[in-house]
Formats: sequence, C-alpha cells, structure tokens
Amino acid sequence: MVYYIRFLKTPRFQVQKKSVFISALICITTDLGDDFLAEDVDLIATWAQYSSHKALYQEPLKWEASTRQLPVMLGPFSPNDVAQKTSILNIQLQDSQKDTLRVNSTPLVMSGCSASFGPQSEPAEKLILRELYVADHKQPLKIWEETGNSIARHIWDAALASIIFLEQTIQGTSKEMPALSQLLQAPRSSPLQAVELGAGCGIVGIALATMLDHCDVLLTDLPEVEEIVTLNINEARPQPSSRIHYQTLDWDDPPPNLCSRPIDLILVSDCTYNADSLPTLVSVLNRLVETSPKALVLVALKRRHESEAVFFDLMRAAAFAPLQANVQLPAQHEEVDHIELYCYRRQAGPDVP
Ligand SMILES: C[S@@+](CC[C@H](N)C(=O)[O-])C[C@H]1O[C@@H](n2cnc3c(N)ncnc32)[C@H](O)[C@@H]1O
Repeated sequence: MVYYIRFLKTPRFQVQKKSVFISALICITTDLGDDFLAEDVDLIATWAQYSSHKALYQEPLKWEASTRQLPVMLGPFSPNDVAQKTSILNIQLQDSQKDTLRVNSTPLVMSGCSASFGPQSEPAEKLILRELYVADHKQPLKIWEETGNSIARHIWDAALASIIFLEQTIQGTSKEMPALSQLLQAPRSSPLQAVELGAGCGIVGIALATMLDHCDVLLTDLPEVEEIVTLNINEARPQPSSRIHYQTLDWDDPPPNLCSRPIDLILVSDCTYNADSLPTLVSVLNRLVETSPKALVLVALKRRHESEAVFFDLMRAAAFAPLQANVQLPAQHEEVDHIELYCYRRQAGPDVP
C-alpha cells in the first residue's frame, strides 16, 4: 500500500513577533485516507520560489510511526526575506530525488508540492501536486489532487499500477496480455481511441496519452471532477500526436447516444470498491462494447471488500472474458501490495460479430 503526503492545512506565511514563519500541517496516509504510515521516515521540507522553483530554504522533518499528523514550521525569516515572494512548499522523503513509477521500485511514500502562496495572502489552495516519473521518461507526469477527503479528486493505488502496466506493455517488457500488447504496439493509421471511466484526477488516461503516440483519450467521471481534471489536462504534456479531452459521464444516467465513435480501449481504475454502483458500471461497459465489439477493457483494482467479487459475476454474465496480471506496489515494513489487472474482451458469440 503506497502512502501519500497530504496537507491537512496548506502552507501559509505566518507572522509571530515581527518574524515570519511558513506553517502547514501534513499527514502521510493511504489513498483511502483510512490509515497512517506506521514507520519512522525522514522528510525534507523545501520552501521554493513559485516562478523558478528555486529552493530558498530547507529543513528536515521527522515522521514517527505513531504519528497521525505533523506540524511544519519553517523559519524564522525576516519580513524582507519573504517580501514579494510567491512561494511553494515541497515535502519529500529525505533520501529520494524523485518519485519514479517502475515495476518493483515505486516509492513507499509519494512526495507532494503545494499550490502557490504569497506573503500577504491566504494559505495555498487546497491542492497538492504529484510529480511522477514513469520508468525512464524524462518529463514528469504532473497531477494535482485535492487535499480534502473527496473520493474522486485523489489518485488511487490502482492508478499507479495501471500506469506501470501500460508502460511495460507499450515498451514490450510485459507480454502478459497479448491483445493489449498488440493494440498498443501496432502501427496506427488512425488514432487509438481510449475512454477512461471514473477517471478521477485523470491520471491513467493522461499517462497513456503522455506515453503513447497517436491516441485520443476521453476522460469521463461525475461533474465534481471537472475542475481538477481540467487543471490536469492543462498541465499534461501528451505526445504531439495525442489528445486528451474530458466529458461528464455518470454511469447511473448515461446519455442515449453514449458513444458516437468506435473505441479501442476502455480504462477502469479503482472503480469497483462500491458494490452498489457495479451493475451500472458494467451496463455502461456493455453499451460501449455493443458499438465497439473488439474494444479491450483494462480494469485495475485493489480488493477492499468481499462484495467487489460481484463485478466478476456481472462481467461474466455480460460475456466479457478476462486475462489477468498483477502489479506489486510497496507496502510498509518491506511488504508488498498486489493490484489486480484484468484485460477483458467481449467473447465472440452468435450475436457478436
Ligand atoms: C476510487 S476513485 C478512482 C479514481 C481514478 N480512476 C484513480 O484510480 O485514481 C473512483 C472514481 O469513480 C467515480 N465514480 C463513482 N461512481 C460513478 C458514477 N456513477 N459515474 C461515473 N463515475 C463514478 C468517482 O467519481 C471516482 O472518480
């Protein structure tokens, strides 16, 4: 289980007795926010200039195993030091240079950087930026998350596993799902059409368009993600011939003309945790595949409840046949966590061309 540094209180300048401090409150928690890292780790807090990202000051911090939150108080600085300085605050593990998503070496703790804050202003917006380097890619994938408890506006562990698996499949280092390898590696005369359901912050679909040439990715979710996903699309650096769009799609209320164009790949990451929404999720998959019977559906999930097993029954009943793979993510105390990936294709039958 990966742990994420989060701001419980985003950074701000705080004046105390004519000196200025930078204060914030952080925790290191799971994607679900239901548990805290129960290991001691050394962190480093870096105050940097917003425009140039130039580091202005650094201070070590210690997260202790029993901790649930950690106050950050950098300083004191003189008012002159902070005048005119629109700033950011980055919190990362002391011994890690960058967060790299790679099979068997993803970090246990994901760093985070605040939104900007200024000397006169309010605290930074309630956001945190993850900069993730996918395998050997030189440019990071930049994804903003909210700092609150929204389910939708966060990155989930299955998303990290999906990205690692997609990267391996594109590079040909994983051949576990031959149909997916063929789809992602074959030369294309027209763009590969991908749709992500329940995209949240959009991390998986954005990563695909960043890694893969000549693909159009449509991210979909409930209206509540539109703002964060738009921020992330604007931050994204897709391949020059690839595109990323967003459209609201509620599985409980899909439009009559659900998809006007053929789809090659449907991405679903960590969307099976709520058994109540599984029938409508599978019904949307079913409808999408009715018009694109050769589409592949890549589902990544971390088992959280027994009730999620219903997803597999519903997919079987809808004639979807899977191939399975696993991606390991780190867990605390040097253990590992398993994310399951399934590549589904509609089984050919009398009604399916
Ligand atoms: C656990 S989050 C996963 C987000 C993202 N895929 C990831 O892995 O980081 C589940 C997502 O499913 C979306 N979702 C839940 N019910 C939905 C519905 N009825 N229609 C569309 N999206 C829904 C949520 O809004 C949320 O973004």
